[in-house]
Amino acid sequence: MTGRSKVAAWLVVGSISAAASIVGWAPVLAADSTAGAIAAAQQVGNPANDTCLTCHGNPSFAAPGADGKLSALYVIKDKFGNSVHGKLLCTQCHIDITDVPQKAGEKHQGAMARAAWRLDIPNICGACHTAERAQYATSVHGTAVLNNKNPAAAVCSDCHTTHAIANPTTDAAKLSITQNCGTCHAENLKTYTDTYHGKVNTLGYAYTAKCYDCHGNHNILKVNDPHSTTYPANRVKTCQKCHVNATAGFATFEPHGTPHDFARYPIIWLASKCLLLMVSAMLAFFWTHAALWFYREFKEHAQRKLQTYIKAAELSDAKFKGKYYERFPLVWRAAHLIFAVSLMVMVLTGMSVLYAETSWASAVMHWLGGPKVEAVIHRTFAVVFVTVFVIQLAYFVGYLIRNRGTFEWFGPNSLFPRAQDVGDMLAMFRWFFGMGPRPVFDRWTYWQKFDFWAPFSVVIIVIICGVMLWSPTVTAAFLPGWVFNVATIFHGEGALLAVLFLFTVHFFNNHFRPDKFPLEVVMFTGAMPLEQFKQEHRVEYNRLLAAGELEKYLVDAPSRPMSVGATILGFTLLGIGLLLLAFVLSGMFGIGS
Ligand code: HEC
Ligand code: HEC
Ligand code: HEC
Ligand code: HEC
Ligand code: HEC
Ligand code: HEC
Ligand code: HEC
Repeated sequence: MTGRSKVAAWLVVGSISAAASIVGWAPVLAADSTAGAIAAAQQVGNPANDTCLTCHGNPSFAAPGADGKLSALYVIKDKFGNSVHGKLLCTQCHIDITDVPQKAGEKHQGAMARAAWRLDIPNICGACHTAERAQYATSVHGTAVLNNKNPAAAVCSDCHTTHAIANPTTDAAKLSITQNCGTCHAENLKTYTDTYHGKVNTLGYAYTAKCYDCHGNHNILKVNDPHSTTYPANRVKTCQKCHVNATAGFATFEPHGTPHDFARYPIIWLASKCLLLMVSAMLAFFWTHAALWFYREFKEHAQRKLQTYIKAAELSDAKFKGKYYERFPLVWRAAHLIFAVSLMVMVLTGMSVLYAETSWASAVMHWLGGPKVEAVIHRTFAVVFVTVFVIQLAYFVGYLIRNRGTFEWFGPNSLFPRAQDVGDMLAMFRWFFGMGPRPVFDRWTYWQKFDFWAPFSVVIIVIICGVMLWSPTVTAAFLPGWVFNVATIFHGEGALLAVLFLFTVHFFNNHFRPDKFPLEVVMFTGAMPLEQFKQEHRVEYNRLLAAGELEKYLVDAPSRPMSVGATILGFTLLGIGLLLLAFVLSGMFGIGS
């Protein structure tokens, strides 16, 4: 083409664009950019970016691709302008495009066929980035693309994007490249996302291990290649980039270990299924129990069959009048409160990692100041929790030793399960089905024992796993790394079980059933009215009365500030518990992610 015919051609561009916009796929050329296009066209063979963008800058710009389907040809001007290549000419990468279409629907002259263009991208980028191109050529992706002409493997732009390439030292680029690996390796992205590394990444923090920290970037090799960074013999060194004290045992942690693949990870699968079974069995039983209980109690409540607090003759006796029974001494109440508060903090911080994909989790995490701060809070409260737990255990053991002669292990004052509990439970079920009277209880009902032992035993597992995860490299000094895969499951799902149990079953048994609704404050005030005590623990009441010991436990009614304080505290804890429950359920059912 001569210079004059080129100018003529560019004038045509303006008019065909206007015409094409009626057809629906081409942009309208604004008058001033037409002038720009003409000026640009005068630079022979090097059209300015704005020239290209007169067509490609239109959001709806699309044309049928090689497969006949409409494909988008829109390039966002600002995104490109802000990318690392913002100052490059389009044609420095699109070297084959030296000409622009002159008629609607006409193709760029000399444009390569799509598949060929894709396979050539490493060379296009590599023209300027020679070092990366050279390294890439030896990688699993590079050999697939360059030697085997396999267009399915990654080219530069699959990892880096095409027109929005950012400097990979920025967090945004690190997160985006990690997601981009997942466009092809979806399964590996998913399993990675289930690990602690991946959770932190999902929350938007780029400092943990990302795909390419373990696999490399331009030099990725097959995992069974002896030179690969993930080859078993090289793995320790790879982990040591961040875990400086990593041992060979530590490196046997499975970075893609998933409980959903029995063939590959049988132990992880088994661990997860055992826990799932335990959770389902326990919740199924107690939810059924709660449902039946609700039905019966609600019915009797409605029919006013239940005389909530029976006024017995002895209770109008002067020495009993208006008195309260002291059920929980101060240390018990203090321990309960510390457990409740520290547990709730740990649930909030822990579940926002477990359910990293939910929007509340990332809100909580950013509010707290990130996973590193979160980890400190989580561990601080874990220390508080465990300290009280250990003191309590020591106290129990000391009590048992001091009273070894007289303590009845399976007596009425002991929290240990006994045969009577089974009888009580059967009687309770008979009552649920209207086949018997409501049973009467001693100091500890069977569900109170369960309220104590179920979280107790689960918490021990959660604590042991938590301690192991606290310092993985120390643990790995004497245990293999796959233990972390299992410990993570036990820690997370165990905690989940405790949450579901405490914030449904425990709340129902103590606060939400019709007789108690909406709040029972005895765990905060420590004392309950004598009438209520008689009603709820009739066997103990009768026993103490007969032995003449009841008076030992009598206290005055809690003061008004104490009652009000206990009520406010109780409602606050209930509210937080229910909110946490809502968070956890939303995470479990994938709502809000
Ligand atoms: C750094 C190199 C580079 C620069 C500069 C560049 N592109 Fe691209 N462009 C690419 C690559 C690589 C692809 C292919 C992406 C693929 O096939 O996956 C592409 C694809 C395209 C496509 C096809 C549709 C698509 O998005 O895949 C259009 C249209 C396009 N570019 C237009 C432009 C325009 C207009 C400019 C200038 C504003 C420009 N490009 C600048 C590298 C570049
Ligand atoms: C007059 C409108 C127009 C202008 C100006 C224009 N193009 Fe295009 N471009 C198209 C059309 C139409 C297609 C789709 C048909 C085709 O493949 O040729 C296309 C396709 C492309 C493709 C995709 C090719 C493929 O096969 O996937 C690239 C890359 C591209 N253009 C780059 C550019 C660059 C770079 C410039 C500036 C030098 C430019 N275009 C200017 C209309 C235009
Ligand atoms: C014409 C030469 C040229 C081509 C072709 C080119 N680049 Fe670049 N690229 C550059 C220059 C120059 C910079 C540095 C920009 C800066 O420092 O701000 C750069 C920066 C980058 C960076 C950021 C690195 C850094 O240190 O800031 C990445 C990533 C990148 N290019 C990837 C690509 C990819 C992928 C392609 C192919 C789609 C490509 N480049 C094509 C010249 C080119
Ligand atoms: C499999 C994904 C992937 C492919 C394919 C890929 N890169 Fe990269 N590239 C990365 C990652 C990840 C980084 C960041 C490395 C880091 O920060 O550790 C990077 C960094 C870069 C940088 C910044 C400087 C550097 O080396 O750290 C440039 C430039 C670059 N790549 C160019 C290219 C070019 C050119 C190609 C194609 C020949 C290419 N990349 C192919 C993932 C990829
Ligand atoms: C903490 C290090 C680490 C991280 C992070 C990691 N991987 Fe891996 N990856 C490995 C190890 C080790 C293997 C080999 C062991 C195995 O087969 O599970 C592997 C195996 C693979 C394989 C081979 C196929 C397979 O399933 O065995 C692919 C593909 C892969 N990873 C992709 C990814 C992607 C994509 C990401 C990010 C989303 C990622 N990896 C994150 C360490 C890691
Ligand atoms: C465009 C799709 C695509 C993207 C994006 C991609 N890969 Fe790949 N990757 C492949 C294909 C296809 C293969 C298989 C190549 C072969 O075996 O010839 C592969 C192979 C691998 C392997 C070797 C698997 C094995 O069997 O041992 C690893 C590891 C891997 N990719 C990691 C990554 C990582 C990490 C990223 C992101 C930084 C990434 N890939 C991005 C397509 C992709
Ligand atoms: C890019 C840095 C990086 C690399 C590489 C890396 N990790 Fe990590 N990893 C971290 C960070 C950061 C943490 C979180 C530490 C913390 O909060 O205590 C972590 C945590 C862990 C944990 C504890 C998980 C939990 O549930 O608490 C294990 C186990 C682990 N990494 C194993 C590995 C193994 C095995 C490798 C090598 C295959 C590896 N990591 C490679 C950064 C890395």
